Amino acid sequence: MMTRAQAVRAACDRLIAAGVDDPEKDVWRLMADASALGSVCLITEMTTTIPVEEQARFWAHIERRVRREPLSQILGLQSFWTLELKVSSDVLAPRSDTEVLVDAALAVVSDRDAPLKVLDIATGSGAIMLALLSELQAAQGVGTDLSAPALAIAAENVRRCGFQDRVQLVRTRWADSLEASFDLVVSNPPYIASAVVDTLEPEVRDHEPRLALDGGVDGLDSYPYLLGEARRLLKPGGWALFEIGYDQGVAVQALVEATGVESVEILPDLAGRDRVVRIRYDQGQTLRAEKHWNCP
Ligand SMILES: C[S@@+](CC[C@H](N)C(=O)[O-])C[C@H]1O[C@@H](n2cnc3c(N)ncnc32)[C@H](O)[C@@H]1O
Repeated sequence: MMTRAQAVRAACDRLIAAGVDDPEKDVWRLMADASALGSVCLITEMTTTIPVEEQARFWAHIERRVRREPLSQILGLQSFWTLELKVSSDVLAPRSDTEVLVDAALAVVSDRDAPLKVLDIATGSGAIMLALLSELQAAQGVGTDLSAPALAIAAENVRRCGFQDRVQLVRTRWADSLEASFDLVVSNPPYIASAVVDTLEPEVRDHEPRLALDGGVDGLDSYPYLLGEARRLLKPGGWALFEIGYDQGVAVQALVEATGVESVEILPDLAGRDRVVRIRYDQGQTLRAEKHWNCP
């Protein structure tokens, strides 16, 4: 029989041998999940022997981590903004970098109580849209994705947040089948260059959906579609915000300017790297907005 302290040590050794750097935080989190004790309580229980059932759960978690499954997929949950969202291998686990986009979108909203309409293209787990709706109490959202399994996870997250009456999920390519008009269009599309995807750490390369990562030869495949859809679907005066790769600011800004839009900013993440493109579509730069709210 092992004490918790001995199990933590043994699990860290096992993960280091499997190539996981600095595994202690993950081991603690997995032990807390296996034990159903809070992590603070665990500290006082380190010299006690682990009950047999808890031990089985803990080592099952560790074996998944040895296979380089991401922590979020083992736990089935990922924190994002103020929310705790369900994740699986069918969706990209939402990243803290993407909170920069949420923040930048909220910054352009002058009235947070207004009944805004938000479109999240390629919604995945629904993270961006749900974070925005959690701050914009009267807003409604539409989330699209090409992946039906991803939309099933998004639907669970909509229920977790209690937003069933405020959200529609649509399976489509980008925003192909939509006709409603929106105040905000947001997206975190796949933007990693195809050749780079194969060089990513195993947690991402082998366990997150390639559809969520691969942005084509230069990573920029999605942006012409997103820009076209923003122009088509935004109300005059609306805003579009898209996440971009840390080295894509210049290229994406040029793509936006080539569409004749002048009001474009590249915003940095907390590390100072390019992370978000924010575009304002003025009167005349969008087509006449349709008045109905009708998504299939
Ligand atoms: C980088 S993930 C972003 C997920 C989520 N929005 C987030 O920020 O965590 C990109 C998403 O794009 C979806 N996707 C890829 N190609 C698509 C397409 N042509 N049309 C719609 N969605 C697409 C993927 O299924 C994936 O869910």
